[in-house]
Amino acid sequence: MDAEIADYLKTGVEVARTAGKEINGAFLEEKRIECKSSAVDLVTETDKHVEDLIISTLKKKYPTHSFIGEESTAAGKHCEWTDNPTWIIDPVDGTTNFVHSFPYVAVSIGLTINRQIVLGIVYIPVLDDLYTATKGGGAFLNGKKIQVSCQEDLKQSLLLSEVGSSRMESEVTIKMKNYQALVLAGVHGLRSIGSAAVSMCLVAKGCNDAYYEYGIHSWDMAAGAVIVLEAGGVLLDTTGGPFDLLSRRVLVASSRKLADSVSSHLTHLELPRD
Ligand code: IPD
Repeated sequence: MDAEIADYLKTGVEVARTAGKEINGAFLEEKRIECKSSAVDLVTETDKHVEDLIISTLKKKYPTHSFIGEESTAAGKHCEWTDNPTWIIDPVDGTTNFVHSFPYVAVSIGLTINRQIVLGIVYIPVLDDLYTATKGGGAFLNGKKIQVSCQEDLKQSLLLSEVGSSRMESEVTIKMKNYQALVLAGVHGLRSIGSAAVSMCLVAKGCNDAYYEYGIHSWDMAAGAVIVLEAGGVLLDTTGGPFDLLSRRVLVASSRKLADSVSSHLTHLELPRD
């Protein structure tokens, strides 16, 4: 691995573990909750504090780098993605899980250079599971190499998706229609675990075969995207076209054949870009 990327990875892992300690410390405590875009789009003091901690640590070490963070964007900072090295951060992916002390909560840190995702770190502090990947260097869970399943058959597959935080009837209707279409197509199961980053890592680990979602953001998927790719999976737009980090939608799968089968059952939603 390139020495510069190795240094970014080491720093990113250190800061993700520090952030994880903060999350674990607050996990069973009572949380002060605020709402963002909807009554079910939640944020806690921990989200804000952990994002500040991650960005200030990385900024100190890499003062010329750029940053996109979920909570800074929610607070009004423009989401500007350039060729400059850009850290894309979701301090607490799975905030609703965190609020309910449901364990799938992750720190998600991706780094892009020339708008290519070059590394991804997803740390689930409650489980002490650390997923990492660098472009061309493979994907790992707690230091052990991981690989997607070899599933190609929709009828033999276990899928993941989410209803997300929009409560617009038109959006929810399409999402439910998609659930119904896949269930009736005969999949083994369709799970929702409340974190895009963790969902992508479970596909990378091979214990789930595909995940799609409409309505997520770049910070939910940047790190998971490179982890799935490096584990041998495919990363696409939900239509089956090329993945676009700002498009608010994603489809990952163990194989192109399975991705195409999932995509063929979806009614697609167009969403405002990040
Ligand atoms: C959310 C999670 C969830 C997804 C939502 C995201 P957050 O991220 O990834 O799985 O369904 O669309 O917003 O808000 O907990 O960081």
